[in-house]
Amino acid sequence: MTFDPIRLGVVGLGRAFVLMLPTLRNDARVKLIAAAAPRAESREAFEAEFGGRGYASVEALANDPEVEAVYIATPHQMHAEHVAAVAAAGKHILVDKPLSVTMADADNMVDVARAAGVHLIVGPSHSFDPPVLKARQIIESGQFGAVRMVQALNYTDFLYRPRRPEELRTEEGGGVLFSQGIHQIDIVRLLCGGRAKSVTAMTGAWDPERPTEGAYSALMDFDGGAFATLTYSGYAHFDSDDWMDNVAELGGAKGPESYGAARRALQNLDPVAEAKLKATRTYGAGTVPPSALSNEHFGPIIVLCDRADLRLRPGGIDIFGDTERHRVEVPLNAAPRKSVIDALVAAVRQKIAPPQTAEWGRASLEVCHAILDSAQTGETIKLTRQCGIEYREETQ
Ligand SMILES: NC(=O)c1ccc[n+]([C@@H]2O[C@H](COP(=O)([O-])OP(=O)(O)OC[C@H]3O[C@@H](n4cnc5c(N)ncnc54)[C@H](O)[C@@H]3O)[C@@H](O)[C@H]2O)c1
Repeated sequence: MTFDPIRLGVVGLGRAFVLMLPTLRNDARVKLIAAAAPRAESREAFEAEFGGRGYASVEALANDPEVEAVYIATPHQMHAEHVAAVAAAGKHILVDKPLSVTMADADNMVDVARAAGVHLIVGPSHSFDPPVLKARQIIESGQFGAVRMVQALNYTDFLYRPRRPEELRTEEGGGVLFSQGIHQIDIVRLLCGGRAKSVTAMTGAWDPERPTEGAYSALMDFDGGAFATLTYSGYAHFDSDDWMDNVAELGGAKGPESYGAARRALQNLDPVAEAKLKATRTYGAGTVPPSALSNEHFGPIIVLCDRADLRLRPGGIDIFGDTERHRVEVPLNAAPRKSVIDALVAAVRQKIAPPQTAEWGRASLEVCHAILDSAQTGETIKLTRQCGIEYREETQ
């Protein structure tokens, strides 16, 4: 039986959309039929490639009767408004991470999606990476007992990638927490069952030229007794891809020549020139998405269970049991983020929500804020808006 593809609209044809292109071009279960974008040249590029309709406003796209679901890939601070517009038209939503910047917006988005009776999936996020989903499946099988402790590390050049000015202002969603921490939190929550209890953390904002958080370390505990440490640095010195088989975050090969490239590209650029440089990486500017040789990853992650430790790698999972170790291979799909489309198809066509719902996105956002609050106050922050893995979609 042939599958009737989901008719998808997209809002925002920037960097995030470029990174979804290999998936959207290779997964026949979705068909891009419309886009909303303020720049005429990106709308034209979209119409030329996909033969769909370009709109100047989100409302016009959402009210296109052909559109079944909408991928929202606009800057974080716009997600709430764009989700509200799409939900009002009764369309299902895939919104890129983070759900929003403020908790008030997140609360509102949970309510809006519920009231409209539409699915809202927060993704892509690295919690959809196939090795993460496979680890979750292994944990759920119970064969190695309960999860006791997780360690997640990531050392990147995030703070030195070209940015819009607000991406360097914490209160507007800038810094590593909202863009990067959210991935690590999503992964750790998925591995530990979702319901975190408290957070104790410290953050670093050490470059006066880029005065937002570039690093953090956090300790979280969970219902059931597991605890996790999360460490992230975006200061572009050590790169933990070195510990991930020299595979870059998006699954490409990382060679030694890339060392220092992010800082070199930014040398002597003022904020306007930097935003322009970012715009060269956007859709319609001739940018080719990076090609993946392996699954995406978000740095080294080790999960300690009662009877084995699981080490997540781009190509699979190393399992260190009591007396033997072995490898579970996790091959790369032709559509690199196939698991995100699996979740969308299950939600839209079978009414099965993945774990990464609006409530889930709000819970992960709560942890981002708790890390910032804990660092500022020196206190342990109790969490109140957590949720578990209520529904799940097995994708492997
Ligand atoms: N999951 C990932 O791998 C990933 C990677 C990068 C970014 N992101 C997320 O995607 C979102 C966008 O980030 P980005 O880096 O792509 O930013 P970007 O600036 O490259 O792209 C944002 C796009 O939104 C468009 N836009 C602005 N206002 C709009 C409106 N009213 N209607 C329609 N389009 C509008 C802009 O023209 C721009 O093309 C952020 O929330 C970010 O966290 C996710």
